[in-house]
Amino acid sequence: MSLEGQIEKLRSQFLEELDSASSSKDVDALKVRYLGKKGPVQSLMIHLKDLSKEERPQFGKIINELKQELASQLESLLTKLSENELAARFLNEKIDVTLPGRKEPLGKEHPINQVLNKAIDILSDMGFSVEYGPDVESDYYNFEGLNFDADHPARDMQDTFYISADYLLRTHTSNVQVRTMEKQNPPIRVIAPGRCFRNETISARSHVFFHQIEGFYIDKHVSFKDLIVTMDEFWSKLLEKDVKTRFRPSYFPFVEPGMEVDVHCTSCEGKGCRICKYTGWLEVAGAGMIHPEVLKSGGIDPEIYSGYAWGMGIERLAMLQLGIKDIRTFTENDMRFLEQFP
Ligand code: DAH
Repeated sequence: MSLEGQIEKLRSQFLEELDSASSSKDVDALKVRYLGKKGPVQSLMIHLKDLSKEERPQFGKIINELKQELASQLESLLTKLSENELAARFLNEKIDVTLPGRKEPLGKEHPINQVLNKAIDILSDMGFSVEYGPDVESDYYNFEGLNFDADHPARDMQDTFYISADYLLRTHTSNVQVRTMEKQNPPIRVIAPGRCFRNETISARSHVFFHQIEGFYIDKHVSFKDLIVTMDEFWSKLLEKDVKTRFRPSYFPFVEPGMEVDVHCTSCEGKGCRICKYTGWLEVAGAGMIHPEVLKSGGIDPEIYSGYAWGMGIERLAMLQLGIKDIRTFTENDMRFLEQFP
């Protein structure tokens, strides 16, 4: 066949195949097949050398034109198909960015921890550092070292869960007092937050499991006035208003004198309401000057040093502040209860 004939045949064959190409992949394959190094256009070039010198440039030009023609046809089909393919992909993979996102559930602080942490923050700012004591405690740190004798009637004030004759679940965070005195030298300014346990009948007002924060300060010349000033400042900061405090004599074996600390009722500001049982006051802490025997238990000389201590329950405070009527709700893990709090 003449070279012109071959070129014509090649062109029509190519157009036929191009016609049936339906994807950019087909076009790419076609391009490789026709215009590649081992393709028919290239082999036409090789035939050029069989032609006479005069014919060569003319046919060379024709073959080049063919090459360009095929290339441009391939290119324009490729552009068209790629555009279609992209449009189809956009349609398939369409994302509706106006759809509202799914809300991830976010945990929050338990109301007890909110009150605990607020108190810890305030007292840290006031110069107290945090110590932790064990939940399972020896009789010594929970009672004896705190001036409760073996048959001291005050032990009955706190119904204790005993684990053995010598070990128990701590009934108060006061157990941290002697432990800290053994480790640190005065001045000691420490708070001890934590869990406490008492074998009481569970009701709306009392539970076997609750939280306290103990605080104490030991140095030379620590006086009762220091305790009053600290209480006034702490309670005003915690309750976020200038509250008045009141100290009533009371008895705890580890302090002398011992006190109950009251604050003006936050609900009625002292006028008297159901929350304060119409007394105008809320009992918020026990406090006093650390008993010389307790300082001695901790290896501190009561002739040189003195100190004050106070202890407060967190659940009752949280109930007051958040208007919660039943202490049991704190530990029931009912999401409807917990979700109410910010
Ligand atoms: N530990 C006492 C209790 O749980 C509270 C208490 C009273 C702590 C007087 C003190 C204090 O530090 O001085 O009932």
